[in-house]
Amino acid sequence: MKPVEIAKDIYCLTAIDWNIRDFHGYSTYQGTTYNAYLVIDEKIVLIDTVKKDFADELIAGISQLIDPKRIDYVVSNHTEMDHSGGLPRVMHRIGEDKPLYCSKIGHKNLSRHFTRKWNFQPVEDGGELSLGKKTLTFMETRMLHWPDSMFTYAKQEKILFSSDAFGQHYAGLQRFDDEMGESIMPHALKYFANILLPYAPLILKLVDRVKDMKLPLDMICLDHGIIWRKDPAKIINSYVQWSLQEPKRKALVIYDTMWHSTELMAKAIAESLGEEGVDARPMHLRCCHRSDIITEVIDTGAIILGSPTLNNGLFPTVSDFLTYMKGLRPKDKIAVAFGSYGWSGEAVKLINRELEEMKFKLIDPGLKIQYVPDTQGIKACYKLGKKIADALPAK
Ligand code: FEO
Repeated sequence: MKPVEIAKDIYCLTAIDWNIRDFHGYSTYQGTTYNAYLVIDEKIVLIDTVKKDFADELIAGISQLIDPKRIDYVVSNHTEMDHSGGLPRVMHRIGEDKPLYCSKIGHKNLSRHFTRKWNFQPVEDGGELSLGKKTLTFMETRMLHWPDSMFTYAKQEKILFSSDAFGQHYAGLQRFDDEMGESIMPHALKYFANILLPYAPLILKLVDRVKDMKLPLDMICLDHGIIWRKDPAKIINSYVQWSLQEPKRKALVIYDTMWHSTELMAKAIAESLGEEGVDARPMHLRCCHRSDIITEVIDTGAIILGSPTLNNGLFPTVSDFLTYMKGLRPKDKIAVAFGSYGWSGEAVKLINRELEEMKFKLIDPGLKIQYVPDTQGIKACYKLGKKIADALPAK
């Protein structure tokens, strides 16, 4: 680990997890990073740690700058283990009695995660910690990403340490947005869709609060991925846009299939939508990862979900996807179910029930076709596609 000085006497310490491919159900094809930050002043503070497996790397990184024992304080912005897993090793190395600043809920969570009697210093929203010339301000940001989450703001340097918010799961040797250009944005969008989407209303409130505070921002330093320094406003504006989830004339035909009959239906529906000028895409659940599909869900107007009936129920991948999507709470979608069946045909009804629970607008009772769709069946799929297209926004 090579420390990178991001501002005078402020260092980014990045553990690069090149090989992780599954982050609690999210596909991380390009790995991720865990970023900690060292702020050196009359007092020295470490902001966040890294995943447990990388704790020794972090200590080695700190040691290139200072003797770790010189660290006076630790700040834990978030208790999820990818940022707190390294705490026991770090605290042992720097001194178990060093003050550990966190939110009040962070205090409770850390006590549950680790059975250590550390010198917890729970902070108030807006509380400050003077390091000498530099001052840190703490901001509660509940549910971004957990109830304990908070931001830390370095006043003089105008740097926001934003923990999970504004991050990306991307492993690379670059540290800043200006080294990546637009290529970082798909990673930021996927991260937002799969981690922060349920909290979109809170994000909108937070952005309003930050705007009201007129908080000057030269840099946003997050705990995963690339630091925003060229244009911090760009990612904030993108978060606002993504949080609004304004539906486009776009439809996802998400399905699985046993003997290609549901697949034939999916393709016919997608083709029909395409003919009506809809940006439509069939997505096979065993070819597209659930986290990639969710990234597409953000701005889509219609979710069309297909499953064959298997043993009176849904195909397992369809159940998996519904569970995942339900938890992420996308909003303002129209929806339709479809599927082929042999004799009982419960899948469409079961999908409808789930879609209704998600408060999607069902514009059709759903289309089920016995065994293999014939010419009439394909025509019915086309008709359904047209009906969905008519219900979507014009643009
Ligand atoms: Fe990167 Fe919520 O942890």
